[in-house]
Amino acid sequence: MQIEFISSIDSTNSELMRRAAAGDYSTVCLVAKAQTAGRGRLGRAWLSDEHSLMFSLGLPLAPANWSGLSLAVGVSIAESLHPSIQIKWPNDLWVDGQKLAGILIETTAIKGASVGERYAVIGIGINLEAPQAATAQAALDAKAAPIGLRKLIPNIKAETTLERILQPLVDNIKIFEQHGWKPYAASFTKRDALQGLSIKVSSGVAGQYLGIGETGGLMLQTDTGLQTIISHEVSVCR
Ligand code: BTN
Repeated sequence: MQIEFISSIDSTNSELMRRAAAGDYSTVCLVAKAQTAGRGRLGRAWLSDEHSLMFSLGLPLAPANWSGLSLAVGVSIAESLHPSIQIKWPNDLWVDGQKLAGILIETTAIKGASVGERYAVIGIGINLEAPQAATAQAALDAKAAPIGLRKLIPNIKAETTLERILQPLVDNIKIFEQHGWKPYAASFTKRDALQGLSIKVSSGVAGQYLGIGETGGLMLQTDTGLQTIISHEVSVCR
């Protein structure tokens, strides 16, 4: 696979989406030292400094079902890095309730492709140190304060982090394409940051978190019964 390093760009996800729009559907990993308009989920900004690893992996994919891809990606990264890293449904990596990394997955149609095949851009931002800028981001998110990977692995460099993550990630994405998120369910459960918590989703519904269902949706026991949440933002009720 081609790995491209770039010193600065608006957003590695935006760049791979632009390339796809221009007909370039290569399998590529684009790594940036700096992003001037890094993007997070739900239209948020991803703010970072020089102590972060930011990259996007672009590749054509044709899974029977896309749901759970972010969980499989999260499990893969966590397993490559450290036993204490937890996954917070659907797209964050946490350590002790603090945000270590975020995942932004976007897909676009491939012209002339077979049914079900799309170009996926899987963007990952990992704090090596807890950045100042991310404090503002966390405040915006009204969620987890940031934490850096170096709390767990002192002095780890961005290059080493990428080396540890990338090949297993590509392999796991291929497994996901064939078998869905089921092969990751057991590892996910061990690393599930929401286990045992009362949570609230962005639509306002609150309840007891019961885990992730077969299709990657979040199961919530509410006053009015069991609900499966597909892609809302989740906050922890304290
Ligand atoms: C989130 O926490 O909401 C997701 C953050 C994803 C950030 C990464 S950094 C590399 C890639 N390029 C972007 O603009 N965003 C992702």
